[in-house]
Amino acid sequence: MVSEHGAQVLVASNRGPVSYAVREDGTLDAKRGGGGLVSGLSAIGDAGGEGATLWVCSAVGEGDREAVRRGVGEPGVRMLDIDADVHADAYNGIANSVLWFVHHLLYQTPLEPSFGPEFRRQWEAYRTYNRAFAEALAEEAARGAVVVVQDYHLALVPGMLRALRPDLRIGHFSHTPWAPAEYFRMLPDDIAEELLLGMLGADRLGFLTTRWLQAFQGCCAAVLGSYEVMTYGPEEATPSVGFRTPDGRFHRTLLGVHGLGADGDFLRARSQEADVEERLADLREQIGTEPGGEARKVIMRVDRTELSKNIVRGLHAYRLLLEEHPEWHGRVVHVAFAYPSRQDLAVYRDYTAEVSLVAEEINSAYGTAGWTPVILHVKDDFARSLAAYRLADVALVNPIRDGMNLVAKEVPVVSDEGCVLVLSREAGACAELGEDALVVNPYDVVGTSAALLTALTMPAEERAERTKRLAAAGTALPPAQWFLDQVAALRS
Ligand code: G6P
Repeated sequence: MVSEHGAQVLVASNRGPVSYAVREDGTLDAKRGGGGLVSGLSAIGDAGGEGATLWVCSAVGEGDREAVRRGVGEPGVRMLDIDADVHADAYNGIANSVLWFVHHLLYQTPLEPSFGPEFRRQWEAYRTYNRAFAEALAEEAARGAVVVVQDYHLALVPGMLRALRPDLRIGHFSHTPWAPAEYFRMLPDDIAEELLLGMLGADRLGFLTTRWLQAFQGCCAAVLGSYEVMTYGPEEATPSVGFRTPDGRFHRTLLGVHGLGADGDFLRARSQEADVEERLADLREQIGTEPGGEARKVIMRVDRTELSKNIVRGLHAYRLLLEEHPEWHGRVVHVAFAYPSRQDLAVYRDYTAEVSLVAEEINSAYGTAGWTPVILHVKDDFARSLAAYRLADVALVNPIRDGMNLVAKEVPVVSDEGCVLVLSREAGACAELGEDALVVNPYDVVGTSAALLTALTMPAEERAERTKRLAAAGTALPPAQWFLDQVAALRS
């Protein structure tokens, strides 16, 4: 039974806008999530009108589950308490170990992947998990409502939801890169097909760059050969994928690029607040000055510690700089904020440990009583990240592959004195920022090291000019507009 009073605009994502933790005294502590998804989707309130919007997400940790059990929640948010084992298999097993690895080209292919029975079992959980979302959305949506499904965790939802509610306008947005067809086809054929058909159940699919959109089309052409696939590229008026569905109809899914940008107004205001000023003073003290009293140069990076971010090669590039250019000893500091992520998985934990190890090695090889070459912080602190953004001379953003990378877009907005961006050509952001960044091949440690040196020695005027243009490009599509554009495209 379709409710006439359901939500007009719905969002679905694995992680929601709030997460809960159980305090020692048993009460619940609610924390607002950060990142592009949350700030972009805060516009959901404006999209559907008062009371007509809903964000469906899953309980990710024990705190979230407890909140659902106690009936604690935010208006406009429905948190699904999906069985913890099903969630673990879907989120850790499939989403973060398989799909994330496929789209970011992270497999060490002589040994991995190997898709055996365990993978099949986890895939079944991924289906169950996606079905729980599809059913909740079908229950909550008003007739003809717009639903925007987010990311690789929920690739099967569009197809499942369409089967339940053909009246809805269904969109899906990918925040990751999309794998090239040859790599994507490592997935077993039936799974690759199910995943693509699941997404193509949507009326419209959104990507961060043209490159990822075209890769998706390439996968459809390579995998769905028996479905009479027809793709229309981005050079045509309406890029799309058309195909004959298993029941013989011809279905066309439109594709669009929405390059999520930084929220300039928010960042400019937030970065001037008292807690950021405090962190700025602390950081300056930690970094210290040259013997003559001059401020040391700062090469900064901020990431979730995760394999695609390429933190270890970044450290190697910095080490090479110190090795080849002793004139920089004592005059530069690498401030690296590497916030642990997905620590349930050994491969992410090992990488986190490797980052600390390499940072320690550099410090013991080059550090002196008055100079710590690498300052590594692993405890997530947004105010401190903003402080580092403000004082950095160089920002290193060198992912192996990244859907967009918002740090690259945020730093130039809040930088006090201008900051040179050393940017991987494999980050989606490079499509928009490439002209004013120093672009590197993320695997090339020598090239990255050379770019760091160029960045350190860039004349102040050029640096300021570039920063200004980077800030303009990086804020061209603020999160709220990014989201409203997608809703409008689905409605039209
Ligand atoms: C990427 C994904 C998001 C995800 C985020 C944090 O940006 O595209 O969907 O939420 O990483 O990862 P986590 O596993 O902690 O949610």
